Order: sequence, then C-alpha cells, then structure tokens
Amino acid sequence: MNKVTLDDLSDDDLRGRRILVRVDYNAPLDDRLEVADDSRIRATLPTLRRLIEMGARIVLVAHFGRPKGKRVPEMSLRPVANRLSDLLGEPVRFVESTTGRDAIAATRELADGEVILLENTRYDAREEANDPEMSAELAELCDLYVNDAFGAAHRAHASTAGVADRVRERGGLAVAGLLMKRELEYLGGALESPARPFVAILGGAKISGKIDVIEALLPKTDRLLIGGAMANTFLRALGYETGSSLVEDDRVDMAASLLDRSGDQLTLPDDVIIARKMEAAAETRVVPSHQIPAGRMALDVGPATVTRYAEAVRSARTVLWNGPMGVAEIPEFRHGTEGVARALVEATRLGAVTVVGGGDSAAALLELGLQDQVSHVSTGGGASLEFLEGKALPGVDALSAANESVS
Ligand code: 3PG
Repeated sequence: MNKVTLDDLSDDDLRGRRILVRVDYNAPLDDRLEVADDSRIRATLPTLRRLIEMGARIVLVAHFGRPKGKRVPEMSLRPVANRLSDLLGEPVRFVESTTGRDAIAATRELADGEVILLENTRYDAREEANDPEMSAELAELCDLYVNDAFGAAHRAHASTAGVADRVRERGGLAVAGLLMKRELEYLGGALESPARPFVAILGGAKISGKIDVIEALLPKTDRLLIGGAMANTFLRALGYETGSSLVEDDRVDMAASLLDRSGDQLTLPDDVIIARKMEAAAETRVVPSHQIPAGRMALDVGPATVTRYAEAVRSARTVLWNGPMGVAEIPEFRHGTEGVARALVEATRLGAVTVVGGGDSAAALLELGLQDQVSHVSTGGGASLEFLEGKALPGVDALSAANESVS
C-alpha cells in the first residue's frame, strides 16, 4: 500500500482535530425508508471506533442514490444516521446541509470523540462534477481527510477526489480509512501475490460488463470458472443451441476469441437448469449445457457443474468470486450460487483466502447468512469491478502518498 492510512496516524495527529470521513452509506432502504441492509454501515465501524478512541471530531460525508443535484426527500441520509447511532452505541447528529455555514458551525460544535453525519453530497450538483468550489467548501470542514468509501472510489467526485486534492494542496493529509485499506489489501493481494492455485469464479447476466475483468484475470488465475447468464454467450460461441436463454449476440465473437486464447483455463458449465420462463415455481429440468432445447432458457448452473466448481474452489488457496451463478433472487435458480457460496466457506475453513467482490454475490452471501465465513466481502460493486479490471481508482489516487509527512 503506497498511501498513508489511518494506521499510520497517532493519537496526536487526531485528538481534537476535525476529521472529514468519506463513507459509502449507499444502502438499500425498505418501504418505510429504513435501512434494509446495513453491511456498508457496519463495515465502517472499525474506522469510526478508532477515531472515537483517539478523540477525533468526526464529520461523516456520503452520497445516497442518484438525486442528480436535487433535494429528493426519499434520498436523505437521515435514516442512516439513526442506524449508525444504534450500531455505534453513540449519538450521531444528523446535519441537514453538506457544506456552508451550518455545516461549518456543526463541525465547530463537535467535542472530542463526537460524530455528525452531513446530508447527501449528491443533493449538490457540484459533487458529481468534481467542482473545485465544492471541494474547497468540504475541505473547510476539516483538518484532515479520511476516505473509507471504497464503494465510491471509482468516482472522481468532489467528496471522493477533489476534497482530498484540496486538503493535500494546503499541506494536510488525505488518508485511507481502515475499510479502504482492507479492501485494497484483499483485492490487491489476490491480484498481485495470490497463494496458488488461484481460482476465480465469475457470474452475472452479461459478459459485456465483465470482459475487461476476464481479460485482466486470465493471466493471473490458474482457473476461471464461468456461470450465470454470461455463460450462455460462451456456449453460443462454441456453436451450441441456447434456446431462449439470454445471449449477447454482439459479444459472441469476443467470447469465441477468449475461449481460443484461454485453453483449459476458462471453464464453462457442464449442465444447466432450464425453464420456460424466469419465474418462481417454474417447472425446471437439468440438461447438458450443449443441449438446451428451443423455447427453454438456462437460468442456473446444474448440479454436476456445482460439484465440479465446488471441488475447484475447495482445492484453491486463493478464491475470488464475482457474480451469481444463476437468477439467485428466485429459489428455483439459486442452487448454483448457494453451492459456490458454501464451497467458498469450506475453502476458507481449509485455509484459503476467499474474496467476494461486492454487488450481487455479496447480497447472495448475506441472504445465506454466510457473509462472516469468508475472508473478505467487498463493499464495492462497480468499484471492485474496476479495481479487478486494473483501472486506477480516483478516490485512492487522490490520497497522500506513503512518503508524505504528517503536517
Ligand atoms: C455503489 O452503490 O456501488 C456506490 O455507492 C456507487 O454508487 P453510484 O454507482 O451511484 O456512483
């Protein structure tokens, strides 16, 4: 890690200082506008507890949804403040502004170890434009900036990148929080120095969104197992009939080229679960993956594939999983995803490092209650994909380099 992290800072650097902490609290809400999945909030607790312990004055800033520069009441962060307060066991004052006089006043009123949460950064159109004025206004709220929002690190926005630049320009520090550090260590470790065998499992609906990840992982992994509807495009590239399965016709050539180049390394499902429609209680059947009949669609990998993939996972020393194996929201098509999830848990028990790249696979793991039984579940959806593709993350790039001194 070539960036300064919270671990590098001492009590003296933090006590009594106003610390602006960018978090990713973009959590799903239920119908009553209460937090339905608090994983992302929980994941920031180590950073917040460390800062509280060290007597810092904590100013939390985050985006929520995509309100496009307007104050959309349903996208207020207020419900998140309540949940965070319950989880921390400390009061968290919610401030209705993000920058400006009231926000500055609220930061000035903080006592050592106290926490406030500012309103949604995306209520201000300047956030997504990475507007320098907004970055400067955010920088006014703090002495030091901590980015713990791995999930938003692929966005070059005022609260993720601009403010960090601003704080550094004035001689201050912009550092990675403990969650950010953990994410970069697990995902980066898998890519840079994996214990071998290194097995990656990629699923999800579309190959188009994952091509760059496949390209980036092929030279690094020992085996790459493919599931989800994405597998159908590969099956078509092999010349098989795919019935009414979802296939990206414009990506078939690309899939064929990937298959050509990868030899045995890229593994496709041997069998699939098919149905006429993608719906609960549909009549299902298991068929070999090269025999999908007309009018039927592949909606999950079949049992032989689950066994084969699970064996590969169990014998690996590093496992990276991104994307469900089937339509995991529907119980009939969840077997593949569940099988892979359970194999990851077993591999973890056997001593492998197991990393689940956020988004749908993280949600599936949570649904199965297995999220604490793998080495690391990423809080980033898009961010973890971009990281795996080898792209630079603006929110990380903007942080102080490890050789910059504490001012
Ligand atoms: C996410 O939910 O993946 C992050 O919070 C980023 O959100 P965005 O895709 O709206 O930028």
